[in-house]
Amino acid sequence: MTKKQRKILVTSALPYANGPIHLGHLVEYIQTDIWVRYQKMRGHVSYYVCADDAHGTPIMLRAQQDGITPEQLIEQISDQHQRDFADFSVDFDNYHSTHSSENKELAETIYLKLREAGHIDRRVISQAYDPEKEMFLPDRYIKGECPKCGADDQYGDNCEVCGATYDSTELKNPKSVVSGATPIEKDSEHFFFKLTDFDAMLKDWMKAGHLQPEVANKLEEWFEIGLNDWDISRDKPYFGFEIPDAPGKYFYVWLDAPMGYFASFKNLCEKTDGLEFDDYLTADSDAELYHFIGKDIIRFHGLFWPAVLAGSGFRTPTAIYAHGFLTVNGQKMSKSRGTFIMARTYLEHLDPEYLRYYFAGKLSSGIDDLDLSMDDFQARVNSDLVGKVVNIASRCAGFISKRFDGKLGAEVENSELITTMVKAGESIGLAYEGREYSRAMREIMSLADQVNQYIDDRKPWVVAKQEGADAELQAICTTGLNCFKILINYLKPVLPVMAEKSEIFLNIEPMTWNTVDQLLVEHPINKFKPLMTRVEEKHINAMIEDSKQTIQVAQQKTVSEVLAKNPIANEISFDDFAKIDLRVAKIIKAQHVEGADKLLQLTLDIGEERNVFAGIKSAYQPEELEGKLTVMVANLAPRKMRFGMSEGMVLAAGPGGDDLFVLHPDEGAKLGMRIK
Ligand code: 2FM
Ligand code: ZN
Repeated sequence: MTKKQRKILVTSALPYANGPIHLGHLVEYIQTDIWVRYQKMRGHVSYYVCADDAHGTPIMLRAQQDGITPEQLIEQISDQHQRDFADFSVDFDNYHSTHSSENKELAETIYLKLREAGHIDRRVISQAYDPEKEMFLPDRYIKGECPKCGADDQYGDNCEVCGATYDSTELKNPKSVVSGATPIEKDSEHFFFKLTDFDAMLKDWMKAGHLQPEVANKLEEWFEIGLNDWDISRDKPYFGFEIPDAPGKYFYVWLDAPMGYFASFKNLCEKTDGLEFDDYLTADSDAELYHFIGKDIIRFHGLFWPAVLAGSGFRTPTAIYAHGFLTVNGQKMSKSRGTFIMARTYLEHLDPEYLRYYFAGKLSSGIDDLDLSMDDFQARVNSDLVGKVVNIASRCAGFISKRFDGKLGAEVENSELITTMVKAGESIGLAYEGREYSRAMREIMSLADQVNQYIDDRKPWVVAKQEGADAELQAICTTGLNCFKILINYLKPVLPVMAEKSEIFLNIEPMTWNTVDQLLVEHPINKFKPLMTRVEEKHINAMIEDSKQTIQVAQQKTVSEVLAKNPIANEISFDDFAKIDLRVAKIIKAQHVEGADKLLQLTLDIGEERNVFAGIKSAYQPEELEGKLTVMVANLAPRKMRFGMSEGMVLAAGPGGDDLFVLHPDEGAKLGMRIK
């Protein structure tokens, strides 16, 4: 039965045009690229588009800081991004920018349609304003003292020290991060997208199977809290598109960002004969539309975006596929540990296909975080790719070239093995389709084990020494190499470079999903060249060291800078100090706090149990803290926080920003002990 040819448009989230691609980003691009390559191998008409997300305050300010125009900045960054993606074989059909004529036109058209249909509201709101720089300040551009605990140098919306959340107007001694001026309150008219008009539409959409179950649950919670209208405008100065009929008002970056998916596709249509924008994106289109995203941007893709599309007469997505975050060695990527690894730094030391394979081996259809453990990475790639797959070819190829003039025999000798391998294609295909790549990799490696077992049993190196056993030797190696071809055929979406080298070696046309059962017999092959070398520990270590240095240079957090940012506090008396009861505490439980960006909830044992909310989420996964000892302030008055009562504080050190280190007592300390 021939399957229907599908029309598929796929996107990955658009990276911001103010920073480099790192391994955390690559999880998504590799995940999407594998999926699209698989669809293409199946013969479906598939397009994978992306773009740089070029608008917003951070990009405007970064360009000013660098003394260039935002246009110059986004051009430089786009070049870097595209080089990184290409070197990881992330094969976009088009890479564009949200700062493009196509996107401007789309943003204006969509906005005007929403306005005509009555989905846009205007009202005056009051916001923090930098009188020196003459700009409104987003919360992250205001710092001051926490209104709850008094900690210095805290952002405008929440305190990293005590975890309190508040309004930027409540900060004590607030300062603009941009100019250092004290912000004032200023009124301005804003434009709102009336999300509430789409309550019923979104509820139906959410139930119609476009979302993963975990994501649908998240949305359900938001519905329960109640939808709010969405502020889609920002005042000048802003790098973005001016709103029609509203001089000095700009579309908020998150309004035109997802439109950038469509703009990139439009740009591709303009360059491609016969490819029509409307075939894919009108409300009655029979094409499929998929957005791959990280779980942190579900709100924009699961709520705002479908509502904007429905309100302006476009089709809505077929599905949104969210994935989890990347941890390295079981912990959040950390600049000081050297595990915040840029794509470029990785490429300077290691083969990109190692990472593609490793991520594939870890990825599933859920939103759980995935861990890149460096030891496991090395072991897995070496054992699976080099030890199992490439090894099959290297065990058979030499005999074929030396003894049979590079020609495969007339038949294979173990047709059951070949049949098993071909049959496995159905299940492996389903795993790719369902984004269960880890299952696909397991199945492929189990086939590789069977092939190696066959070669171990048939021992071509022994047969090669036997008189008159030429036909047998050729049949064994022909079988082995046909099995190798099937394995590479299955791995091709993950390892496009190795697949291409193998196609050259096997002297065959590019493989598709239909070539799996095509046997190579009486077929000339080329000389075998090593297809992949082993991962060496020294290269991993060098990459980590380089990452530490790249970051240090970028961050310039020297001791004197840390001290300058956090000067030694005013002297206190011994009596004051003696009032603080510091105890060794055991972290018996650590968990995420729903709705909190910075906090982890810790259950501490100091002889009695304490519930503490600590602002350490940026640096730790809950699992890595459980069971560890730390130090807590045990006699701090309990504080009511938005998420519950916090009964103490744990001690952590950090240079400011996201890097933090929870303090642990030396060996021998026992929970409950007082610190003197
Ligand atoms: O979170 C981000 O990095 C955004 N730049 C993603 C945008 S995705 C799409 F909506 F444009
Ligand atoms: Zn605080």
